[in-house]
Amino acid sequence: MQIAGSVALVTGANRGLGRAFARELVSRGAAKVYGAARQPAQVTEPGVLPVALDITDPQRVAEVAMECADVSLLVNNAGVMKASTFIGAPNTDAARAEMETNYFGTLSMCRAFASVLAANGGGALVNMLSVGSFYTNPFTASYGASKAAEWSLTNGVRLELHHQGTLVVAVHASFVDTDMAALVDSPKISPESVAQQAFDAVEAGQIEVLADERTRTVKASLSRDHELIYPPVQGFWDSIVQGTQ
Ligand SMILES: NC(=O)c1ccc[n+]([C@@H]2O[C@H](COP(=O)([O-])OP(=O)(O)OC[C@H]3O[C@@H](n4cnc5c(N)ncnc54)[C@H](OP(=O)(O)O)[C@@H]3O)[C@@H](O)[C@H]2O)c1
Repeated sequence: MQIAGSVALVTGANRGLGRAFARELVSRGAAKVYGAARQPAQVTEPGVLPVALDITDPQRVAEVAMECADVSLLVNNAGVMKASTFIGAPNTDAARAEMETNYFGTLSMCRAFASVLAANGGGALVNMLSVGSFYTNPFTASYGASKAAEWSLTNGVRLELHHQGTLVVAVHASFVDTDMAALVDSPKISPESVAQQAFDAVEAGQIEVLADERTRTVKASLSRDHELIYPPVQGFWDSIVQGTQ
């Protein structure tokens, strides 16, 4: 699918990766780019049409699918990360909020736009996932669970929409230089790089983007995760726990 001439909608387009996705779409010649956001006044990117949308509101999701019935490229970018552990968190509020947005919100969007994409020739659907889809980091444990669920959703939607010719692209990344990773003191890739890789994949018909070296290493280690991934994570976590006792 070519981006030039397409009609795209990006969720969470007011900042971070969403803004980079929207900007990249405009620069590649998309005919129309809808920038969906909870606060549409914050969508200020030139050439991007603001649309009010909270993806956890199924009624509004359905309305937007009707209002934006010309969409041929959907970018499910909106997400939350509450930096919450499974056991140490005071309650399950963070885990529920992450699942509600990252999994159920994205699921609502996929369901609402499936027929829109079909009506516009199949098109493409891009889900912004994470290296956290592949393994559990205790610091962001419930976020990882929501991204693993979203990864599973992405694989299932690809199977269900194959018959209508919709390309479903999973984009996984480690740390990206946005507000979400502001407190992280580790190498980060730019949101622009993620956006470019995602749309290169759409144009090439590829179903997966592993956007940085850490993500590629983790995915390649999955068949031996209990040898290669978890021991160093366990050691680091133990040292943190011991330091706080
Ligand atoms: N940054 C990273 O290191 C990283 C790495 C891998 C994957 N990701 C994923 O990349 C995506 C974008 O993250 P980011 O780094 O750009 O984070 P960010 O800077 O925190 O931006 C998150 C975006 O999602 C929007 N959003 C959150 N809940 C929403 C809802 N219910 N309805 C509509 N919009 C909602 C936010 O809107 P408001 O401004 O209204 O809050 C904001 O636009 C997320 O799915 C995230 O999980 C990020």
